[in-house]
Amino acid sequence: MNDSEIKKIYEKLVSEISKHNKYYFEDSKPLISDKKYDDLKKQILNLEKKYSYLKSNSSPSKILGFSPSKNFEKSKHRVRMLSLSNAFNKDDLENFEKKIFNYLNKKIELEYSVEPKIDGISASLTYKKGLLIIGVSRGDGTTGEVITENLKTINDIPHKISNKDFPKDIDIRGEVFIEKDDFEKLKNDFANPRNAASGSLRQKNPLETNKIPLNFIAYTYGYFKSDKIKKQSDFLSSLKKWGFKINEHNKVLKTIKDLESFHKKFENDRFDLKYDVDGLVYKINNLSLQNRLGFTANSPRWAIAHKFSADSAYSIIKDINIQVGRTGALTPVARIKPVNIGGVVVSNATLHNEDEIIRKDIRLGDTVKVERAGDVIPHVVSVDLKKREKKSKKFIFPNNCPSCGSITIKEFNKTTKKYDAVRRCTNEGYDCEKIAIEKIKHFISKDAMNIDGLGKKVVENFWDLNLIRFPQDIYNLDYNKISNLEGWGDLSVSNLKYSIDQSKKVSLDRFLYAIGIRHIGIENAKLLAEYVKSIKNFIILVNKDKLNEFLDIDGIGETQINSLKTFFENKSNYKIIEKLSSILNISYTILNKNGKLLNNTFMITGKLLNMSRAEAKSLIEKNSGSVVSSVNRKLKYLIIGEKPTNRKVQQAKELGIKILSQKEWLNLLD
Ligand code: IVH
Repeated sequence: MNDSEIKKIYEKLVSEISKHNKYYFEDSKPLISDKKYDDLKKQILNLEKKYSYLKSNSSPSKILGFSPSKNFEKSKHRVRMLSLSNAFNKDDLENFEKKIFNYLNKKIELEYSVEPKIDGISASLTYKKGLLIIGVSRGDGTTGEVITENLKTINDIPHKISNKDFPKDIDIRGEVFIEKDDFEKLKNDFANPRNAASGSLRQKNPLETNKIPLNFIAYTYGYFKSDKIKKQSDFLSSLKKWGFKINEHNKVLKTIKDLESFHKKFENDRFDLKYDVDGLVYKINNLSLQNRLGFTANSPRWAIAHKFSADSAYSIIKDINIQVGRTGALTPVARIKPVNIGGVVVSNATLHNEDEIIRKDIRLGDTVKVERAGDVIPHVVSVDLKKREKKSKKFIFPNNCPSCGSITIKEFNKTTKKYDAVRRCTNEGYDCEKIAIEKIKHFISKDAMNIDGLGKKVVENFWDLNLIRFPQDIYNLDYNKISNLEGWGDLSVSNLKYSIDQSKKVSLDRFLYAIGIRHIGIENAKLLAEYVKSIKNFIILVNKDKLNEFLDIDGIGETQINSLKTFFENKSNYKIIEKLSSILNISYTILNKNGKLLNNTFMITGKLLNMSRAEAKSLIEKNSGSVVSSVNRKLKYLIIGEKPTNRKVQQAKELGIKILSQKEWLNLLD
């Protein structure tokens, strides 16, 4: 048999098992016996083992038979389960501290709780009056799956806690994982220990979970109110006292130098551990400081994961494709001969951008070193020049967009006074097919319109079938046609319809983020939403050519304004927003309506003591107040720091606006 015949057989088996997964897990009506199902699975896994080029996202080595979201009841986390940003070197760590000092507007001595980062999957356990009430997986961070019964099979998880200090209502969070030795016995079924833990936890039948020896180490909390515990390291000790397992290598350290030397030592020692560790987590130890620092869109400002260096392997570049991203960035991707790197078969590696190809002189046919670290996309590190063939030629990066043919440019960055390393397609709109598809994928994504029934693959499929061309087409889908497509049953169509309908009610900031204007990320979209307060006002500003007004907003600069202008120069972008605003219910919402500063507007001028503008703003907003960017009659208080702008103080006095010192303002908040 040749490769393509083997591939055909493999694909047939995978499609067969996908079909049975659906019958069994989604419809709960299996058509074949468990034995037949297991045989099918074994056949697929054996083929994959023998022929490393075989792979499919529906392979049982990737998923455990079913899409968990459809099988488990969902539960919203009382406090979101966020992820951590990564650091790979000293620069990243210094940058992390610098950002903290900037936010606090002060350099202070920091103390860290240092904890090994076990590579498993996280879970949140809610205890009320000492009883384990519900156990939930991380899910998308906002909502997870209820897997209480499965979690209860884990020995390390107490069902009942009688310790009198144990809080009456608390979410305990930690990592579920499998030890390396136990994984050895299951190696044929799962790609790595993490997949094994994840697959096992999401078994529909808790008795199945019980068969795989899972462990739980606790490391943080979700919902929890306490004045007594002041440090993360004290919280960890309390966890132990309450009956949870905590990591025996947890430590408290102070300086980056100490963190680095501990990291170096641990990186070598980790191979002696019973479980896989992919880095160290550093958390600011002082909990009230953690609270002050808060979160950015996806991760805390007070913690970072310091990863261990990556696994690597050599392979050969068979082809170089150029991918076009949502903002037109052209990313070269090397298709390499499949190679196993640290337990995962890798066949694509990013080459980052044109400059990187030039700098490393990467060519077709080259033997290259490919690195892979945790969940980060594998990348080409270097070329083995000794293995280069004599006739090899330099790779010529295309001057035109491979998708729409438009010219591509490298922008000049006024701040760095250099041209960007990234080349971009100049088509700022939906005329470029690849950009359009990526824009629609962004539109539906979790932080944007959050249409979870419509994944990235479905967008690509609907695009190919000409069902969508613009975001508004999502709200006018031909469901009859969809229900006749392969893989779509009545249930999945009605789920899709439901999640699309749900998304029609959306907050203004999410909507402004969803339309995908370059340089308008989640945080900037919030700033714009706060300023305009309604989509109508936003459209008026665009129509009146008054986008420069946004320069008044603290945090919005030339880059964002220029990007907004370019975006609206393309008339189809404007039409899309008009269309969507007639279909959707877009509203501006103030998050906390019970705070002390409700209905009060503030403006800050001058430098504050030990606090950045960003922190002051977040403090005002946490207490339901709002921050405005110009002195006008709507302003209630002007907060004055060091060296204020005299003109603003003068204007405020003329309008009879109350003037507060930093101390007076903080007194308003107690
Ligand atoms: S704290 C908001 N501590 O790493 C911060 N996470 O990307 C919440 N992890 O999803 C996480 N060990 O699965 C924290 N000692 C530790 C951890 C840890 C492993 C995992 C966890 C989380 C991911 C963060």
